[in-house]
Amino acid sequence: MSPVNDRFLRACRREPVDRPPVWMMRQAGRYLPEYRAVRQKADFLTMCRTPELATEVTLQPVDLLGVDAAIIFSDILVIPDAMGMDLSVDEGVGPQFSDPVRTMADLARLRDVEPEEGLKYHLDALRMTRRALDGRVPLIGFAGSPWTLFAYMTEGKGTKSFSIAKKLLFADPQFAHALLGRIADNVGRFLVAQAEAGAQALQLFDSWAGSLGPREYREFALPYMARAAQVAKTADVPVICFAPGAGWALGEIAEATGCDVLGVDGHTDPAWARGVADATGRGLQGNLDPCTLYADPATIRERTRAMLAAIDGPGYIANLGHGILPDVPVAHARAFIETVQSWDSRATALAGAAAEGTR
Ligand code: CP3
Repeated sequence: MSPVNDRFLRACRREPVDRPPVWMMRQAGRYLPEYRAVRQKADFLTMCRTPELATEVTLQPVDLLGVDAAIIFSDILVIPDAMGMDLSVDEGVGPQFSDPVRTMADLARLRDVEPEEGLKYHLDALRMTRRALDGRVPLIGFAGSPWTLFAYMTEGKGTKSFSIAKKLLFADPQFAHALLGRIADNVGRFLVAQAEAGAQALQLFDSWAGSLGPREYREFALPYMARAAQVAKTADVPVICFAPGAGWALGEIAEATGCDVLGVDGHTDPAWARGVADATGRGLQGNLDPCTLYADPATIRERTRAMLAAIDGPGYIANLGHGILPDVPVAHARAFIETVQSWDSRATALAGAAAEGTR
């Protein structure tokens, strides 16, 4: 059955829509009191590993805010965990691995994941959420992109300097390529399994793309995102590639990955991104700076409309330029979503065509 609200999937395919679909990265999260209520009963990883709880919080932003897509509640770090690393997510500390991977011998200890075994809970959550959504909005599956997972797996935790991960790129490139290749193959298989379990679109998050300069990005990040995306593409659902901090590479990302939609961060000029999307024939998703949602609702509406005026066009999906922050008032998230919902894309297209005509 095709979804009742298929604006999001139509935009992924660059088909006409009445207004842009809208959702928010990290939309199932701590800014929602309803999320915090579930989180009080279970820790984060228990929530990820309990399909009933993952389904419940995945649906919250759909029910409470009326977003046009659901994204399955889980984490990018479930793959290294399933490969045999010991993941913990502690309050105020963030995600950590007690046993980082830094040598060929460490790499040999990792196993390849059979998704229906090692990541069955994530696939069960997708199946359960698809049933619960009953076609109301499409469901997005996701995974971390290899470079970002490499950074977490070698550092053992989040970092601002990436000194261990980047040192390995220069001191032991052979190891780096071996680990990145191994991750890419596991990510690719996991994405295909998610589509088979009911995900109707797939997003790759390369959250730490911005830690690399162009040369290293082109050698260690983009080719492995492309390897995973190309496998994901065999599942025949739209693929979104998001590499915050590497907006300069949007054209190369389109080319190398074959993705359907380019994710755009808040540091990238929206009108410029529109140009790249039209030149490469891809969709575009983003890119309001998540900190905008700290402003008063009138300012949020003004900034959102300014972004829409610059970026709306074929294949556009409204979103933030990164995940929503935990201390944003729900009313402010609502101001963003309602501004998109009241935007008329046909009027924008007509105004654009008129402007073309007067040139
Ligand atoms: O978007 C969604 O709502 C779907 C679920 C989702 C989560 N994490 C839930 C989560 C997704 C898509 C992610 C991706 C993710 N996880 C990324 C890439 C996106 C990005 O922001 O760039 C990264 C880098 C991670 C790793 C990770 N997991 C971090 C940095 C944290 C936050 C640590 C903290 O305490 O601030 C997590 C935990 C996490 N993942 C939370 C949520 C809702 C918070 C856990 C809690 O409730 O305590």
